[in-house]
This record gives sequence, structure tokens and C-alpha cells, in this order.
Amino acid sequence: MPKLLHLACSPRADSESAAGARVFLEHFRKVRPDWDIDLMDLWRDYLPEFSGALLDAKYARLNGQSFTDAERDGFAAAERIALRLSLADRVLISTPMWNFGIPYKLKHWLDVIIQPGLTFRFDPSQGYLPLLKDRPTLVILASGSDFVTGMNRGRIDMATPYLREALRFIGISNISFVPIGPTTGPAEPIRIARENAHRRLAEMAANF
Ligand SMILES: Cc1cc2nc3c(=O)[nH]c(=O)nc-3n(C[C@H](O)[C@H](O)[C@H](O)COP(=O)(O)O)c2cc1C
Repeated sequence: MPKLLHLACSPRADSESAAGARVFLEHFRKVRPDWDIDLMDLWRDYLPEFSGALLDAKYARLNGQSFTDAERDGFAAAERIALRLSLADRVLISTPMWNFGIPYKLKHWLDVIIQPGLTFRFDPSQGYLPLLKDRPTLVILASGSDFVTGMNRGRIDMATPYLREALRFIGISNISFVPIGPTTGPAEPIRIARENAHRRLAEMAANF
């Protein structure tokens, strides 16, 4: 059964990124009723701390050394999480902007899955090579201010370029971004931004 992995990255009950994801998935399910939607809620689901055996395993790989038993066990936790991504035919990431970047839970997930020999490899003559196949990926990014141009009042959106680069590094380049913002402040601009984003998401779901 084809699979869409949904990474839900907001802890808020009235999350705008989650509301955008609901609109997208409602339309996606209509055109692809046979698809499995694998929801990973980064505020509820287990992510291993990046220390101890998992950290040692990363450095063992980087240094070309074999794993100890503890490192193999530590690395297996990262492998299980990365497997959910590698098995997905489509990826949906619904996330807030936090302090111009991504929430630390999404960074934590990326730190866990971006591993040598798992999602990338290094070749002395060719450099860094991705190990995942490319797949359509949609990022819904909700921000208190309007960052549609990439900037707001001299402040830069670093979530978009960071996610683009981190995912490209492991092989995922086919990424679309749908910003939702402003989500704070006067009601009318919020309503217009939400409506525009939801309309775009409904349209995108038909061909995703
Ligand atoms: C810790 C934190 C940091 C935030 N940083 C920013 C920011 O840098 N830029 C911005 O426009 N909004 C910022 N916001 C506002 C959120 O981006 C906004 O509320 C957005 O709607 C959150 O997404 P959600 O509704 O899906 O939870 C921040 C909110 C929090 C809680």
C-alpha cells in the first residue's frame, strides 16, 4: 500500500500548520483513498536523545569503525525512525516557524535520521552522496508574521532554506513550501492568509 508520512511538528491545539495539513489530507484522501497515512507527531512520538550509544555510533561510522553492541542498539533506534521516511512515497511536514527557524523537535528528528550509512554516505572521490530516493514532499510552514517573500521587517525566514538543504542532503529535492502567515495580529490579514493557503493546499492535493 503506498504511504504518505505526515510529520506533525506543532504542539498547539489550534495550530495553523495542523489546520493546513487537515485541509490538504482531506483532499488527498479523496483522490488517493487507498493510501496509508503514517502520522508521526513529534511532540508525542518517541525520539531518542542524541547522546550515549547513538552519538558514539555516529562517530564510529564517521571514523569508519565497526559498532560495539551498545552502538548497534543505539543506532537501531535511528534506523527505525529513518525507515518510516524511506518507506514513504510522499512526505508532508506541517510545522511552525520558531525563532526564524524550525521547532527543536523537528531539528531533533533531522539529527536522528541524518546518519552516515543510513541516509547519506561519504565517498572520498565524489564527496557527500544522498542515500534516499527523491519523493514529492510538501512543507506547510505557519508563522506569526508574513514571510511569503522570505523576509519580514528585516528578519529572515531560515526555516525554508534550512529544510530545503537538510532534506536535499539526504536525497529529497522535490519539495514545495506553502507558507501560512500572518497567524498573529489583526484578524483580517490572518483570515486572508489562511484562506489563500487552504485554497492552494486543496489544489495541490489533487496532483501530489
Ligand atoms: C517559541 C516560538 C517562537 C516563534 N517564533 C516566531 C518567529 O520567529 N517568527 C514568526 O513569524 N512567528 C514566530 N512564532 C509564532 C508562530 O510561528 C505562529 O504562532 C505559528 O502560527 C505557529 O504555528 P502553529 O500555529 O502551527 O503552531 C513563534 C512562536 C513560538 C511559540
